[in-house]
Amino acid sequence: MDNTSLPTQPYKGARDFYPEDMRIRNYIFLKWKEVCKRFGYEEYDGPFIEPFEIYAAKSGEELVNEQIYSFIDRGDRKVAIRPEMTPTIARMVSQRYSELNYPIRWFSIPNLWRYEKPQKGRLREHFQLNVDIFGIDGVEADIEIIQIIVNLLKEFGADKNMFEIRMGNRILLEDVLKDANIPSSKFKDIMKAIDKLKKISVDDFKYILKEKADLKPKEIDSILSFLQSSNEYILKMKEKSPGAEEILKTMKLLRLSGIESYVKYDPSVVRGLDYYTGNVFELFDLSPNNSRAMAGGGRYNNLVEGFIGKRISGVGFGMGDVTFRNFLENWHLLPQIPQTTEFLITVWPKEDGTKSDKYFNASLETADILRKKGRNVILWLDANTKIEKQLKFADKKNIPYAVIIGDDEINNKKITLKDMKEMKQKNLSISEFINII
Ligand code: HAM
Repeated sequence: MDNTSLPTQPYKGARDFYPEDMRIRNYIFLKWKEVCKRFGYEEYDGPFIEPFEIYAAKSGEELVNEQIYSFIDRGDRKVAIRPEMTPTIARMVSQRYSELNYPIRWFSIPNLWRYEKPQKGRLREHFQLNVDIFGIDGVEADIEIIQIIVNLLKEFGADKNMFEIRMGNRILLEDVLKDANIPSSKFKDIMKAIDKLKKISVDDFKYILKEKADLKPKEIDSILSFLQSSNEYILKMKEKSPGAEEILKTMKLLRLSGIESYVKYDPSVVRGLDYYTGNVFELFDLSPNNSRAMAGGGRYNNLVEGFIGKRISGVGFGMGDVTFRNFLENWHLLPQIPQTTEFLITVWPKEDGTKSDKYFNASLETADILRKKGRNVILWLDANTKIEKQLKFADKKNIPYAVIIGDDEINNKKITLKDMKEMKQKNLSISEFINII
């Protein structure tokens, strides 16, 4: 191939992060990390590639059959690029099962890959904040996880009218299906159909339940009436379903924690991943411009069991950076994030024919002094550029100060500090300069 025809675009559905995007990414990640640490969560990470089978068992058909990037490595092993983090954390917990100090509170921001059709809010690559707690069976842990989600959003200045957490419960749904005498072999197909419900019409939903799950009209009706049911229905199911009891207890604790107004019971939230076993929830932007879930999670009590046969419960969520940035932009919550260079040290241009490096040396020395003081400095690297051009560069880059060192300054051991915004300048001795910075 001719070199001039190499592609300049990134791989489809993947992003380049130019410095202005990187600033935003770092701003978001830093706040995410701060909030997690405030709740006592510790950061971890795992490999980018994992054995394929850790997803095949429990991540759900869509993810495994349609979206995973997998290949056979040179040693003939089937491996996958991680499409989600939960199997990795479950594997890591399993590996050190008996040494870990429970409950475990861990977070991570992995880059994940899924072969999806790129569209608004969905790419083939995204970063996902994962926050998980292991070793607490009670819904107190679910509450802490929801509290973290609420705090994460508030940290960026979001308020109640901007987002909503919708919560369902897998046990309650299964109990409703059992109550309607639907055999458990059909539950998986039914959950898959419910997970798609928001994207399809009711008629298509009925059709799928009839054709794929082989349900009778009466059974379909009982599912539909459950999906349209309100909080009273949970009270009615209280005696029959531990799931209903779990939801009621969760709601009570949400009230006690003062965050109940952020969370809404929604029986149609079931989640697409197979491993969830209790409460499940999704976070939504309330602006219609960003209709995709910004985060999703829930309780998964059997994932570690699949690795080492020992039961340890988990609950957590994943929050994607793509929809999150859309959310911040939608609600004008993203501030201008300035570049971080504070000083441009200009270099006085040499007169034609001058061999002396005195201007460059003086500027280099000043840059050194500032850097030793921990300041962020760019030193001009060409000895023949007009000062105006150097100042233009600083202005375009939004560097707040320029330092000018010409003959007068060198002879008097001074510098000229120029405030690029105010367009004012001061002549200062080196020690005065150090004192004011
Ligand atoms: P998930 O619902 O598949 O859950 O993903 C969580 C979030 O990641 C989504 O709500 C969305 O914001 C973001 N996301 C997912 N796929 C994409 C994509 N293709 N492009 C952009 N953003 C995306 C999980 O992955 C679970 N493992 C989360 C979890 C952690 N559950 C318990 N702990």
